[in-house]
Amino acid sequence: MKSKEDRPLRSSLKRFSNQATKSSPQKSSQKSINKKSAPKTKPKPIENLSVTISEKTDVFEGRKVDHLRLSLDERNQANSLRDLDQIELIHDAFPAFNFADVDTSSYFLNHKLSVPFFISSMTAGHRFGQEINRLFLKFSEDHQVLFAVGSQRRDLESELKSEWSFRREHPRALVLANIGLAQLISHGPRKVLQLIDRIDAVGIFVHLNPLQECLQPEGTPQFRGAENSLRDLVRDAGVPVIVKEVGCGLNLTALRRLQNLGVQYFDVSGAGGTHWGRIESERTMKDPILAAAALSFRHWGQGTVQCLHGAISAEIQGHLWASGGVRTGVDVAKLLAVGAEMVGLAKPWLEALLESSPTTGKAPSSLKIRPNAEASLRDLYAKMRLELAIAMFCTGSMKLCDLRNSSKWQRKV
Ligand SMILES: Cc1cc2nc3c(=O)[nH]c(=O)nc-3n(C[C@H](O)[C@H](O)[C@H](O)COP(=O)(O)O)c2cc1C
Repeated sequence: MKSKEDRPLRSSLKRFSNQATKSSPQKSSQKSINKKSAPKTKPKPIENLSVTISEKTDVFEGRKVDHLRLSLDERNQANSLRDLDQIELIHDAFPAFNFADVDTSSYFLNHKLSVPFFISSMTAGHRFGQEINRLFLKFSEDHQVLFAVGSQRRDLESELKSEWSFRREHPRALVLANIGLAQLISHGPRKVLQLIDRIDAVGIFVHLNPLQECLQPEGTPQFRGAENSLRDLVRDAGVPVIVKEVGCGLNLTALRRLQNLGVQYFDVSGAGGTHWGRIESERTMKDPILAAAALSFRHWGQGTVQCLHGAISAEIQGHLWASGGVRTGVDVAKLLAVGAEMVGLAKPWLEALLESSPTTGKAPSSLKIRPNAEASLRDLYAKMRLELAIAMFCTGSMKLCDLRNSSKWQRKV
């Protein structure tokens, strides 16, 4: 018989069990998902949709709403790890062309994009996520911007088929699928391939999030046996498989191992922006040991520039993308100059869409999509694109390939 005091520790340690079978967190969350039936009514108009915290109906939806809400809290941004501020672009006082000649367009495979920055993976699998994704899909179609959906885990684990029914309303949107490594291992590549078809994606992200899985109350930190699954997915996907972190950075050992498996696309997703050690630490309050441990990881991870530059210096072969703490078009320009092919942002898009608490900077207690969300997304895009174009003009870079050059940037002294 264990004492009361043992209980928190035991519940914290359950996550380290290797059994992905009966008692696995995946199974238990699946149970609760299945208990809830698909929404029978049409989604409410965006203006009226407001999800309060008391409306949480199961573990999965509750977690997703928590993530969206807590990511808007300034305290969950790892500003002290942001190394983008240590980089400066070198001003060229004598560009040999007009500002109007600057061309920010880019390509992903044979798809033309208006800009080299994209909407990083954020949300899927719940009603509120659907409304967000509907807006992002339209935005992607209207502006030729790549849009990465959030983890499609629920598509793997539930029988709900309706989530992406609105995809066909925006056939020209350019969408990237997303799944976690733990789910790729447990469900296998064949099932994950269906996620690509389900949303007619032009690529798929596989996210590696070991810290988040350890700190998440419902986490599945089970990464053993990933090699075969990843190798098979890359071989059979027919579209690029982009492996990413979620804000702690891809290190060289990981990049080399991934490269040996045939992975050719990497998003280093380094530290400096949304930090999952912080977000999950706010969700672990019921487990005091886990909550206390989470505090020790508030500054975990390597900066985005460090990861990207490290990969370039080590001559990692393939397509290097970068994200994590990117907040302006100047940040995008810096990462392109360092060598990124594409640059992702998550939190800024969310901020543009959702009402937050600007005065306190703290997480809002409920989620509400702004009544002017579409215009707000457009404004963010226009500002970012303008900043990128000005940075290009003032570094003497007419095209993106001119900017991707080590002579265009330096570390601040
Ligand atoms: C609310 C939210 C949910 C996220 N969910 C996912 C996810 O499902 N899959 C994933 O690969 N990354 C996810 N991310 C991580 C982002 O894609 C990105 O790597 C990270 O937030 C760093 O970017 P940022 O500093 O611009 O937010 C999420 C980020 C946010 C803010």
